[in-house]
Amino acid sequence: MTQSVRLDADTLATASWESIREIFALDPGTTHLNTGTIGAMPHEVVEVYERVTREWTGSLANIYPPSLYPEYRAQIAADFGVDQDEMVICHNSTEGIARIIAGLDLGPDDEVLTTTHECFSVLSNFNLAHNRFGVKVNLVTLPSGPDVTVEDVVHTFEAALTPRTKVMAFAATTLFTGTRMPIRELCDLAQRHGVITMIDAALMPGMVDVNLRELGVDFMAGSGSKFQCGPLGTGLLYARNKVFPEHNPLPLPRFWPVISTWYPLVGDTPARTKTAVETYNMGDYLQSAGSASIARAAALAKACEIWNAIGRGRIEDRIMELGRYAKQRVAEHFGESSLYTPLHDTRLHAPLVAFKPFRAPEDAWNIKKVMAFVDRLESAHRIWIRWVEFEVPGSPHMHYAARICTHLFNSHDEIDRTLKIMAGLADEMA
Ligand SMILES: Cc1ncc(COP(=O)(O)O)c(C=O)c1O
Repeated sequence: MTQSVRLDADTLATASWESIREIFALDPGTTHLNTGTIGAMPHEVVEVYERVTREWTGSLANIYPPSLYPEYRAQIAADFGVDQDEMVICHNSTEGIARIIAGLDLGPDDEVLTTTHECFSVLSNFNLAHNRFGVKVNLVTLPSGPDVTVEDVVHTFEAALTPRTKVMAFAATTLFTGTRMPIRELCDLAQRHGVITMIDAALMPGMVDVNLRELGVDFMAGSGSKFQCGPLGTGLLYARNKVFPEHNPLPLPRFWPVISTWYPLVGDTPARTKTAVETYNMGDYLQSAGSASIARAAALAKACEIWNAIGRGRIEDRIMELGRYAKQRVAEHFGESSLYTPLHDTRLHAPLVAFKPFRAPEDAWNIKKVMAFVDRLESAHRIWIRWVEFEVPGSPHMHYAARICTHLFNSHDEIDRTLKIMAGLADEMA
C-alpha cells in the first residue's frame, strides 16, 4: 500500500489526475485495470472505516438508530438525484438485486425480460423466482462488437416484449462486453408497455454522474466497492417511492421489503402514493434489518464525499477519456474486429474494453488459453485485468475475452505499457 495521502476538498476540485492518484491505497508495484471487480479505496476511506469501527467497539451505545444510516442515506441519495426514503445502503449489488427480485410481486402469469449478458446475480435470482413462483424468464442475447448502436440494443428488447412482460432487467453497463446501456431509452420503451424496470448498476456508482429519477428507473442495485471505491461489503439499493410523471408516470409497483424489521407486525404497509410525496419511507423498511456495521456506511459516505469534491462530472469525463484511449490502443494492436465492446456509437461507451487477444478465430472459445493469458499478465507483469465469458448472437460457442477496465487513477502510460505487453504475450502464446 502507498503512504497515506489526503487532499482537502478545495484542492481535490482542481488537482491534477497525477496528484489525485496519490490519495488511493494502490499497490505501487501493480497495474490495476480491474475496477469492474473491485476498486481501490482512498486512504481516507480506510481511515474512516478503521476509526468508526474502533468507536463502536465495546461501546454500550444503542446501535439500532444509527444502523438505519439516516444521514448517510440522505447524503448519498442526493448524489444520485433521489431522496433518502428511496435509498438503502446494502452489502453489494448481488444482495440489492436479490432483494429487489424477491420483493417484486411475481407469479406464474408473469414474464421477465432480461439478457444472457447479465451477471449471475441477476440470472440466478430470476431462475429462483422461476422455480419458486413459476415466473417465465425470457432471455435475449445483446449484440456486441464495434458497430453496435443504441437502436440495435433497444430493438433487441422491443422485439422480445410480450403482453405478459412485467419486468425488464438490464445492466447499467454490462460486465462482459462493457456496453453502457441506453437506460433512458429502455425505460421509455418499458414505460410505453407498462413494464417495471430494474437496473443492475454494479458498475454505475462512481463511474457516471447520473440522476436516477430522470433516468426513470423503478429499481436499481449498485456496488459501493467498485467504481465508487468504498469498502468491500457496500452496495446501494434504490426503490422508486413516489411518482414524478415527467420521468416515470407508471404507478408504483407492489413491492415487498424482504429482510426487514420495520415491516408491520400486523397488517400491511400503507397504500403507496400516487404523487410526488411519499406515504411511507420505503428505504427505512429495507434498511431496518437489525444491527449493522456503522463503519461501512460511514466509509462509503466518505468515498462519495471525495467524489463530490473532485466533481462527479469531471470524474466521468476522465474515466470515459481513458476508456476511449484504451479502445484506440486495442484497435491499433489487435485490430478493430478484435473488439466485443461498442466503438463507433459513443453513446454506448463505458470504460470497459473486452477483446480477443489472439488472432486465430477458434481461440475466442478457448477458455484455457484466455485464462492462461490473464494469469500470465498477473504473475509475470503484475497487471491485473480479468477474462469474461458470454454469448454472441449466431455463434454456437461461448466466447472468452480479455477485459480491461480503466478508472480515474489509471494513466495513459499504464494503458500504453499494458497493451504493448499484451500484444507481445499474445504473439508468444499464439
Ligand atoms: C454488472 C455486474 N453485476 C453484478 C455484479 C456483482 O457485484 P457485487 O460483487 O457487488 O455483488 C458484478 C460484479 O462484477 C457486475 O459486474
